[in-house]
Amino acid sequence: MDEKTLAETARKMVAPGRGILAADESTGTIKKRFDSISVESTEENRRAYRDLLFTTPGAEDYISGVILFEETLFQASADGTPFSKLLAARDIIPGIKVDKGAKDLAGAPGETVTEGLDGLRERLEKYREAGARFAKWRAVITIADGLPSDYAIDVNAHALARYAALCQEANITPIVEPEVLMDGDNTIEVCERVTTDVLNATFDALRRQRVLLEGMVLKPNMVIAGKKCPQQADVQTVAAATLRTLKRCVPSAVPGIAFLSGGQSDELATQHLDAMNKHDASPWSLTFSYGRALQAPALKAWGGSTANVESAQKAYFHRAKLNGLAATGRYSEAMEEAA
Ligand code: 13P
Repeated sequence: MDEKTLAETARKMVAPGRGILAADESTGTIKKRFDSISVESTEENRRAYRDLLFTTPGAEDYISGVILFEETLFQASADGTPFSKLLAARDIIPGIKVDKGAKDLAGAPGETVTEGLDGLRERLEKYREAGARFAKWRAVITIADGLPSDYAIDVNAHALARYAALCQEANITPIVEPEVLMDGDNTIEVCERVTTDVLNATFDALRRQRVLLEGMVLKPNMVIAGKKCPQQADVQTVAAATLRTLKRCVPSAVPGIAFLSGGQSDELATQHLDAMNKHDASPWSLTFSYGRALQAPALKAWGGSTANVESAQKAYFHRAKLNGLAATGRYSEAMEEAA
């Protein structure tokens, strides 16, 4: 394990004013996204769409790294340049999603555990050779009646730590993503309590499994009411609750926190990040690792047509820029109009 390399990559991923594009939708998830614009999910369409994102002029000013799906890591741009090379040449670090998805947890109806540890050491070696310098593993925690169970929190934290330790052994900086879903009807208070339990369990497991905190990035959910909850908290309340929770649970040795968007609208995801960065100083760099909140307008503008590539790139650049500004608390709503 090369501690210096791991920590350098982590710091670069969360450098001031830059954040991460999550473009690692699995084959099933990207099909859902393409269905929404009536585009067939063929390998070539997936390649063309990712090509558009990765070649967007100026994106490197706001994007420090891209999380790729395995298929994409081994694909190339239209001119034949492998995506990992193309990104690295633009000072964007290529990363790779290495988990195999959340699967039903035995004996725990409604809950999942993320799989993919078997053979991971060998896969990491292959990914590093292909240019990946960081990785991602997503654990999924559901809030519902009586859920989550301690059992689900525990096994997911354990798997996250096993993954992170293997990554560091391979000199790949792990993104540790324990996602508490925002799909339920729970209040923000319940989300805060569950997120606290999940983060505490996660850092316990990371410590026990000897993960170097300086050489990782945390990717958490924001503390927010469930989508179906009638009482939605305002931006300042979400920012304050999220910061309070993180300060209670996340050691300051962790260089950065890159939030997932989790189904928030793109503008709200930007506003929340900005509000946190306008708040009092926090010990970590606070930035984004958004999937939907960075890509939604671009996906719509593209619609599967080559003729729309430029307008799709403009839409993606606009969101990347606004989130980059939010990562240093320099965003304002008026900038939305300037699109
Ligand atoms: P969203 O920002 O769309 O939640 O995706 C981020 C991600 O990588 C989830 O694993």
